[in-house]
Amino acid sequence: MSLIVALDPPENVSGVKWCIKLVDELGSFPQGFKIGLPLIIKEGVNGLKEITSIMDTKLIIADLKLADIGFIMSLITKLITNTKVNTIIAHAFVGIEGALDELSSTCKDLGINLVLVVFMSHPGAREIMQRVFNYLIDVTKKVSAWGAVLPATMPEIIKIGREKLGNTIKILAPGIGAQGAKPGDALCAGANYEIVGRLITRAKDPRLKIIEILKEQNERLRRCHGL
Ligand code: XMP
Repeated sequence: MSLIVALDPPENVSGVKWCIKLVDELGSFPQGFKIGLPLIIKEGVNGLKEITSIMDTKLIIADLKLADIGFIMSLITKLITNTKVNTIIAHAFVGIEGALDELSSTCKDLGINLVLVVFMSHPGAREIMQRVFNYLIDVTKKVSAWGAVLPATMPEIIKIGREKLGNTIKILAPGIGAQGAKPGDALCAGANYEIVGRLITRAKDPRLKIIEILKEQNERLRRCHGL
């Protein structure tokens, strides 16, 4: 199983209630949950604590999208240590000295996985990220990040990323459904996990939808491995 569900509730609902209902409905199908910044800002650390308290997935990710000096990124990370979050996301572009060196050491001390955004899934990402892709891959390797975010919408970038990153660093790929990629595309290209949000969370029957997506992932994987 290689599916992470992105929890980004609609604006007009109680984020905590919405998440708890969904987490309960999805049961043991997801390998992880990714909690987005809108939800964290709306519900605060206490809300995050409440939401994560009912999760027992391998990965519980706070998508903090950190991009600051090391001191501040570490302060923010320390704020969520009383929750069940075990993985955070930061941007690779801030560089190492005075930024990711400090954050990476804070994460190690706290036992939190550090995932870096290396390339984004929207079309405009090509304008800038294409130019610095190799540098951001190097940053990810140098700080020994646990994982990298690469776009499911650009499987060719995932293929190159996998070659350059080697097999130890995990690749997490968003962009399935609402942004156009199909379940299984990113896994075939070398990703470890596909991140799926609205396709599941806005479905009439999220449980049925996740079962369908997992099936699609398996079929696509079998086809691309020639089985
Ligand atoms: P949907 O509903 O589009 O949600 O399936 C996607 C989730 O993934 C996040 N996202 C990204 N995160 N780099 C990231 O670090 C990206 O390129 C990217 N694209 C989408 C988004 O915040 C949402 O939670």
